Amino acid sequence: MASRYSEVYAAWKADPHGFWAAAAGSIDWFRPPERIFEPERGAYGHWFPDGVTNTCYNCLDRHVEGGRAHQPAFIYDSPVTDRIEKISYGDLLADVKTMAAVYRNLGIGKGDRIIIYMPMIPQAAVAMLAAARIGAVHSVVFGGFAANELAVRIDDCQAKLVVSASCGLEPGRSVAYKPLLDAAIEIAANKPAHCLIFQREMLAANMVPGRDIDFAEALAAAKQAGEEAPCTPVASTDPLYVLYTSGTTGQPKGVVRDNGGHMVALKWSMEHFFGARPGEVFWAASDIGWVVGHSYIVYGPLLNGNTSVLFEGKPIGTPDPGTYWRIIAEHGVAVMFTAPTALRAIRKEDPEATYVPRYDLSRFRALYLAGERADPDTIQWAERALGVPVIDHWWQTETGWPVAGNPMGLGLLPVKYGSPAVPLPGYDVQVLDDAGHPVGAGTLGNVVVKLPLPPGCLPTLWNADDRFHAAYLNEYPGFYKTADAGYVDEDGYIFIMARTDDIINVAGHRLSTGAMEEVCASHPDVAECAVIGIADALKGQIPAGFLVINSNVSRETSEIEREVVSLVRERIGPVAAFRMAICVKRLPKTRSGKILRATIQKIADCQPWKMPATIDDPAILDEITEALHAKGIGV
Ligand code: COA
Ligand code: AMP
Repeated sequence: MASRYSEVYAAWKADPHGFWAAAAGSIDWFRPPERIFEPERGAYGHWFPDGVTNTCYNCLDRHVEGGRAHQPAFIYDSPVTDRIEKISYGDLLADVKTMAAVYRNLGIGKGDRIIIYMPMIPQAAVAMLAAARIGAVHSVVFGGFAANELAVRIDDCQAKLVVSASCGLEPGRSVAYKPLLDAAIEIAANKPAHCLIFQREMLAANMVPGRDIDFAEALAAAKQAGEEAPCTPVASTDPLYVLYTSGTTGQPKGVVRDNGGHMVALKWSMEHFFGARPGEVFWAASDIGWVVGHSYIVYGPLLNGNTSVLFEGKPIGTPDPGTYWRIIAEHGVAVMFTAPTALRAIRKEDPEATYVPRYDLSRFRALYLAGERADPDTIQWAERALGVPVIDHWWQTETGWPVAGNPMGLGLLPVKYGSPAVPLPGYDVQVLDDAGHPVGAGTLGNVVVKLPLPPGCLPTLWNADDRFHAAYLNEYPGFYKTADAGYVDEDGYIFIMARTDDIINVAGHRLSTGAMEEVCASHPDVAECAVIGIADALKGQIPAGFLVINSNVSRETSEIEREVVSLVRERIGPVAAFRMAICVKRLPKTRSGKILRATIQKIADCQPWKMPATIDDPAILDEITEALHAKGIGV
């Protein structure tokens, strides 16, 4: 089939408002928008400003009314608990209606914030959808973050309620969430009035009387009392959620998502980008704590009437590298989404893909990869192993849905390995030099998107309009700065090469080296430090910290290194995968005092590097090289 991509992209470019007005027709509105885009409002305009709708209604009620009551909305597949459960749209709606009533009884109303700190269990999705139902704003925090990170988020969004569980399950151990939550509330200045705790049978959480409420008991009691909350009509522009993502400091950025534009964009992407047909099984193997989980485990598939797989496990070790293929076969997955790091992990354990032929993958049509650069070698391995298109696509927490990718739903374009292909309708992607001038095809520069951003992208940061302007809009007037560096080739294919800020990508998880530096620097013996991301064959990148110790300290440096590693785990969380701290005598700097992080990174990654002309003392680089070699890095 010839691709309709060029025609559809051109139609959007010729009439963007007409394009999104038509797309808005696939969503149910209490009051359909008459105005499609209002440029005067917000930082760069608002989509569908006079529309009134409800995201939960569009995810659940309308499908139940439309005949999907018995279709599974979620298939919860949890190899770590040996459990598989199918939850129909009808049953999910019943739980969500009741949970929304529980929220209401706890005094939560439209616009109030609810923090959700949960493992990958169906109750997490119930918690999200129930918030959406009453117009409350949820903020999901990934379970791998430590108490301190949770506290920062509780404070920033001034949460009234926290929904959590007694534990999460990592291979071989359970992670007690409740002590982390209690510690977070202790640290936070804003104390949530209540916590709803889902008690899992493998670990019981201690409850704080008067504050903590048993999730399952509250749900059962409200059900018995016949309590249900209807959908609260919300403005299209009202916030649905805030999702915190790493910024350039220890203070994360609260990415805001609205209701109307978000639904329109996700619904469009499910159909026209992923090529997922209503009724089919869609699986994003991510976590609800990340944007991929929000968009493509919960909201996108439900908006499109798909069955979504909620997977509590890992690509390997739960129990073996065939788990992904088992799930695809057993549940008839048509389209799957994961991060390249997961495939690299599988390939490492099963290089010949011997697990694949043990399963019937006949209903499987495409595998989508995002979250980090998909290396051509991994893509080609997966193509050979699976015999379906393996599609790299590029986006960010901020955009909420793909900026660029090869659109299966419109017909695939020729593949160029190393490129997430072409911009999707809605996105005018350009490449500018540091002075803001467009560069030619094939020239590396700053990847930007011409304003306005399409529906679904962040309208601002939570309570931080100025930071939104400063972080994304001010540097290249008229454009959104993606903070990715890359180029566009002569055929219009985009290549994303690196970040231009301090963000690194560890196993598909976005982390700020600046935030890690703040923690390292807080150790009493550390005078200064630099954290960089170094290349890792499995995780893409891993952090490495270089520490300069105060001159009056005479302790063993190895002891300080161990303490700093523990400190990062304790303050940021295990997900940072910070295991390497190296004490050095000095850090290489420019004469104006800037630490030469990029040069250290090149040395560590064995890449060619040039002595920076502005370096203060070139001998320091020899010391750094020696310190890296001593750890077996950069050799
Ligand atoms: N709750 C608590 N701890 C968690 C957690 C959670 N939800 N998720 C991860 N962690 C912990 C892990 O147990 C691990 O702890 P450890 O240092 O004690 O071993 C640490 O955080 C790092 O976890 P992870 O990044 O998962 O690394 P890993 O070495 O355990 O596994 C992969 C490597 C590649 C298998 C794994 O990263 C993976 O499945 N990646 C898929 C990527 C993905 O889903 N990305 C989301 C964006 S699309
Ligand atoms: P996150 O906000 O966690 O989704 O991370 C977004 C960042 O991950 C982007 O800005 C990129 O740096 C990187 N990224 C995501 N997908 C891709 C991709 N397909 N190719 C290259 N980089 C990617």
